[in-house]
Amino acid sequence: MATTKAKTVFYCTSCGNESPKWMGRCPACGEWNTMVEAPAEPKAAAAGGGRAGAPRSGRRPQQLREIDYSQEARLSLGMGEVDRILGGGMVPGSLVLIGGEPGIGKSTLSLQIPLMCKDLRTLYVTGEESARQVGMRAKRLGGDDSNCLVFCETLIGAVIEEAEAMRPDLMIVDSVQTMYTDTVESAPGSVSQIKEVAAALLRFAKESGVPVILIGHITKDGYIAGPKILEHIVDVVLQFEGENRGSYRILRSIKNRFGSTSELAVFEMTGTGLREVANPSEMLIPMHEQGLSGTAIAAMLDGTRPLLFEVQALVSSAVYGTAQRSATGFDARRLNMLLAVLEKRAGFHLSAKDVFLNMAGGLRVSDPAVDLAVICAVLSSNFDFAIPPDVCFAGEVGLSGEIRPVGQIERRVQEAARLGFKRIFVSSFAKVEVKPEGIRVVKVADVPALVKALFK
Ligand code: TYD
Ligand code: MG
Repeated sequence: MATTKAKTVFYCTSCGNESPKWMGRCPACGEWNTMVEAPAEPKAAAAGGGRAGAPRSGRRPQQLREIDYSQEARLSLGMGEVDRILGGGMVPGSLVLIGGEPGIGKSTLSLQIPLMCKDLRTLYVTGEESARQVGMRAKRLGGDDSNCLVFCETLIGAVIEEAEAMRPDLMIVDSVQTMYTDTVESAPGSVSQIKEVAAALLRFAKESGVPVILIGHITKDGYIAGPKILEHIVDVVLQFEGENRGSYRILRSIKNRFGSTSELAVFEMTGTGLREVANPSEMLIPMHEQGLSGTAIAAMLDGTRPLLFEVQALVSSAVYGTAQRSATGFDARRLNMLLAVLEKRAGFHLSAKDVFLNMAGGLRVSDPAVDLAVICAVLSSNFDFAIPPDVCFAGEVGLSGEIRPVGQIERRVQEAARLGFKRIFVSSFAKVEVKPEGIRVVKVADVPALVKALFK
């Protein structure tokens, strides 16, 4: 028996970069303390299932114009919002990753799909729960007359063998962290196992044309479980997020080879599973008739759809030496920049104030059009002056305090009018040609002009 030490390599859990020695900081992605040790993959597995010297697959390059794409009929998953996020249903042979923190509802969502589409032949592979548990959950979700087979297995080779024999219309694998392959020695859930499992599923999906949904856990700090490296392998990444305490869940597409990203759908977790919220604006806008100070409604765009929601701010005198600034669902650096603009360009002294900012419904926002609502919510709280409930905002704020126009303003105005808003504040450079009935578009050039129009 050879006495040589088993060879190990180090992987970055954030980007999957491989290195022969441990490093405190990954040179590829710059993350700190993400390198973990794992046994080196056998060369044969690394070279694509030991086919290194074997003849190729027999495929040939094709002329672009001769490629037949007509069979790309999409598979509907029975939930309109999920289909919309995927870009109109699931593409045959695609691998979709649904990521999210434990307990957010990934298993619930994926089990609801076969229950909704009763004649879809589904193979539901679970490495997390027993068949009994899945059965109980299906009963709770209100239907077990589906065409779904539950398979409790964690060896990926056996899963693929079964799937090849069965050729289901859809395969669901819950979760990537529990699956393993025996060609790699490390424990299930390690970086090299996750890479191998995902690659094997991708190969199966592409060769058989069976669409595969893969579930992956993300820990609170976002990387240990490894789905970051998975994102490069799969075709579509859907992220499931929301506050565990609240009942609303947001499904967001962050990568999509077959549709647009930054699409978003809202679900409500009820006693009988997840329910689609067709009109998220209505849920994200507060019920209180009387305006409270410190809130402002932003008209943001998620992907292609306008979405109105409430921005909440609390400004109070700092108790300790340095003022605190905290933002939930919004970039904290951007909040600091907006506060500096208010200080320098409009003369509001906020440096001795604590500022807390929150986006309603657990949303995470990156649309710059929300800037205007953020500064209005901050000023509203600071002066304890309620903004009328029928006013909303869509504009980006620049460093010199100017208000800049944002994309697709007409769609935002239309959505605001549809929801009964009477006034929308936009940049004076915004081009709003089609004005819906019942809403007044107020154009403001800079922060002082906005303050004058709103608070006086
Ligand atoms: P689950 O789908 O198991 O989460 P994940 O697979 O992402 O870890 O969801 C678990 C939570 O959802 C759990 O806290 C209970 C709740 N839940 C409901 O509120 N209603 C339901 O009908 C179901 C099935 C789950
Ligand atoms: Mg689960």
